Amino acid sequence: MKRNTTKEPSISNINEIINSLKENNRFHEIETGEERNYLIETYGCQMNEHDSEKLEGFLTQMGYEKTNSRESADLIIFNTCCVRENAELKVYGKLGALKHLKKRHKDLIIAVCGCMMQQEHVVKYIQKTYPHVDLIFGTHNLHNFPSLLEKTLNNKEAIVDVWDQEGEVIEGLPVNRRYGIKSYVNIMYGCNNFCSYCIVPYTRGRERSRKVSDILVEIKDLISKGSKEVMLLGQNVNSYGKTLEREVDFSDLLEEVVKIQGIERIRFMTSHPKDLSDKLIDTMAKHSKICNHIHLPLQAGSNKVLKEMNRKYTQEDYLTIVQKVRKKIPGIAITTDIIIGFPNESPEDFQETLKVAKFAEFDSAFTFLYSIREGTPAASKEWQVPEEIKKERFQALKNLIDSTAYQNNQRYLNRKVSVLVEGTSKKNDKVLTGRTETSKTVNFPGDQTLIGEILTVKITAAKTYSFDGVII
Ligand code: 5AD
Ligand code: SF4
Repeated sequence: MKRNTTKEPSISNINEIINSLKENNRFHEIETGEERNYLIETYGCQMNEHDSEKLEGFLTQMGYEKTNSRESADLIIFNTCCVRENAELKVYGKLGALKHLKKRHKDLIIAVCGCMMQQEHVVKYIQKTYPHVDLIFGTHNLHNFPSLLEKTLNNKEAIVDVWDQEGEVIEGLPVNRRYGIKSYVNIMYGCNNFCSYCIVPYTRGRERSRKVSDILVEIKDLISKGSKEVMLLGQNVNSYGKTLEREVDFSDLLEEVVKIQGIERIRFMTSHPKDLSDKLIDTMAKHSKICNHIHLPLQAGSNKVLKEMNRKYTQEDYLTIVQKVRKKIPGIAITTDIIIGFPNESPEDFQETLKVAKFAEFDSAFTFLYSIREGTPAASKEWQVPEEIKKERFQALKNLIDSTAYQNNQRYLNRKVSVLVEGTSKKNDKVLTGRTETSKTVNFPGDQTLIGEILTVKITAAKTYSFDGVII
């Protein structure tokens, strides 16, 4: 895909466009008595969630109001994911359904962005099949959204602007945080690992780390606005710093973050096992503000499959890390990602995955059926595992993970744990819900005024996916 004609904008340029769109929206409100509304639907990982927060930041500054109803939206954005085929199919289904809405609401703007758009065949397919889409842009030019939206509003024809290469990291853009209490902070972008099944390095580009000083400024600002917890985001946080001039690694960054006044909890995601250093484990053990939880994707247990996946560790390496982490950080929760049915995964290979999962005693796992991603090395492998076999293996793995999670959770019964209250339960607004430091959900009776507090809660029931408790 050719890098498009739009240039890297400066902050003052972006602000100018935002102000002009704000004026435009103000006139619209004066003329019609109605404000303009937007709706963003986000698919995929925390990176995408956070990108949507950035889009919301722009839109709020432009004077757009958020709506949950498609009928009342003037702008609908799908922020897409292409890690697995299912997520793509959902987006196509939703785009089809918008055709009728567009007929009724002629001024409605439909935009599609995110990882799916970084694939040329997807963009062509959308242009051909869904001509009612007004704007298509990618992950590398998200910061250009104000100018793209302005062009779309002034244009009769659809705008497509996807960059095939990452630009510079642009600092200082507005962000609309979803949760005041918990905040996402990007520490790096992209990935250099090229796991053979994964599309991310092609859609998110090469690894780029943000400067320590920029990250600290952002976190300090969040804490001053009431955040209690930050989640540091990167495809592989363990290789943080490699692209920076100053020699600094992820542990060094954490050492700076823990010093921030008022910060209560620090989390991070995702850690690649091949880069998990002893230094990082020691840093986690040393600071109580760094949560006792690590997400450590295993992907597969068999050494043959791990090699074909290009993961660069063996099951023995992985289990050594697990043992080390559990020894140095007692009570730590370990969660993981596992892919089932990678090409040529034999019954014996799958047994190895079960064996490692049993030994690691995971607290939870995201388990995925392997999905062919065009353009990745694994897509051209000859023997693909039949869907029925993948589903059988999926169930066997789920049963095992559920049982280790349940066993681990029993250790919490009658214990007092600290819980950051995030909100009320969906089913009952007299029940509060929050998370332990180990990222386990706890539900307990309490008043809504306690949202945002860190409380001590006694666990009264330990289930597979959550706890019940009482405030003490
Ligand atoms: N098929 C299935 N799962 C995948 N993942 C990445 N690519 C694929 C694929 N092609 C999973 C990995 C990764 C998580 C975010 O998504 O487990 O850790
Ligand atoms: Fe994909 Fe591997 Fe990079 Fe994770 S580390 S984003 S699985 S290529």
